[in-house]
Amino acid sequence: MLYLGRLIINGAHRLRGEVVISGAKNAAVAIIPAALLVEGICIIENVPNIKDVSILIRTLRELGAKIKYIDDTTLEVDCSEVTCYTASYEMVKKIRASCYLLGALLGRFNRANMAFPGGCDFGVRPIDQHIKGFEALGAKIDIQHGIIHAVAEKLIASQIYMDVVSVGATINIMLAAVKAKGTTIIENAAKEPHVVDVANFMNSMGANIKGAGTDVIKIKGVDKLTGGTYSIIPDQIEAGTFMIAAAATLGDVTIKNVIPKHLEAISAKLSEMNVNIEDYDDSIRVWVDKKITKANVKTLPYPGFPTDLQPLIVTLLCKAEGTSIVTEGVWDSRFQYVDELIKMGANIKVEGRVAVIEGVSRLSGSQVKATDLRAGAALVIAGLISEGVTEIHNSEHIDRGYENLEQKLLQLGADILAVGKSKNKNNGVVNLYDSVEAL
Ligand code: EPU
Repeated sequence: MLYLGRLIINGAHRLRGEVVISGAKNAAVAIIPAALLVEGICIIENVPNIKDVSILIRTLRELGAKIKYIDDTTLEVDCSEVTCYTASYEMVKKIRASCYLLGALLGRFNRANMAFPGGCDFGVRPIDQHIKGFEALGAKIDIQHGIIHAVAEKLIASQIYMDVVSVGATINIMLAAVKAKGTTIIENAAKEPHVVDVANFMNSMGANIKGAGTDVIKIKGVDKLTGGTYSIIPDQIEAGTFMIAAAATLGDVTIKNVIPKHLEAISAKLSEMNVNIEDYDDSIRVWVDKKITKANVKTLPYPGFPTDLQPLIVTLLCKAEGTSIVTEGVWDSRFQYVDELIKMGANIKVEGRVAVIEGVSRLSGSQVKATDLRAGAALVIAGLISEGVTEIHNSEHIDRGYENLEQKLLQLGADILAVGKSKNKNNGVVNLYDSVEAL
């Protein structure tokens, strides 16, 4: 069955009320493969019910893992009997995070075979830093017919300087090094909250990782990871999405189950734009009582403004007073969605990695197409602040990374309808288009 989803939004409703944030996608998609390193039972709590997670669960099961849901957001994962170290193209083509299978299988079996991973298209997405790290640990890497073969007689700790700050390479090297003999040092490591979460997960299973969250991570190899219980952090990007949606609709929303520290770059930028922000221990209130004004934004690795919110902040700036400049500092090509905003009346010019946004007084509902996950979320916000009806095609991209986005927006007063979804009483919403070949 091939199904492409749609979201239909009747715009111009202010969002008001409370919303609860789910577990972090980019932590979950690393922690689930990391469970391959554990020879015991892992209980993983606060798992978001999103498409990328269901793809990874299926992939781990194909490798021989026993995985079951204990409740809607808790997984029991037992990888003790996994013996397979080959992840085929069929398994890994759908999502980028499947690249973590390489580090996890290498760390577990001293060998791994994996096809190149798929994922959102932001231009070139190299994995040279992952490979450099594996080689430094003593693995031989051979690429044949699109398959990466990694093999090591024994993994031995090393000092690795990352040429670029990479979330994926930092996590993958941690996975491969967790049982390597000696102390591995990753310098110029990524500091994202999900990097810290993966380290905390592995430490709770018996690993010895220090420094995650700084740019030097030290991993002292241990003999075995033995199992335990861990709860995934709240999703920084989902929280940022609701913050921007609340601001864009001139609403008043309290966003619960967040870590305000992870949201500082977003809060600071929204405050600069006249949006009111109030932090509490584990929630944040966002409301608007003044005209939203222009801002310049540059996306950077954490603690900078996250690239994954770039399409959303651009959308907010479409109706802000004045001219804003947004510079993409992480990916080569992350403005493909701008053409869709222009169809809705936005005034945006893109030159390479820079977008110049001239605020307009109105956007109008249109037929648009989501090109990737965050671009899809940006179009949802555009639909919420447009006059008339917006129909977002290919909305299955959004389900890859947002749990029940339309349900949460409905509760906040949005007029939004998802076409092509069904309810699963054990496990929240599931997609009817589970068998879509390439998302
Ligand atoms: N890079 C290299 N060589 C490498 C790896 C990365 O040159 O070996 C470059 C990339 O081309 C890019 C930069 O380094 O210019 C950063 O890439 P990074 O490796 O940090 O990205 P990633 O691990 O592939 C994760 C998130 C992305 C998010 C980026 C940046 C996951 C599963 N994905 O990707 O999230 O944009 O970090 O923060 O964690 C999303 O959630 O929508 C999403 C795309």
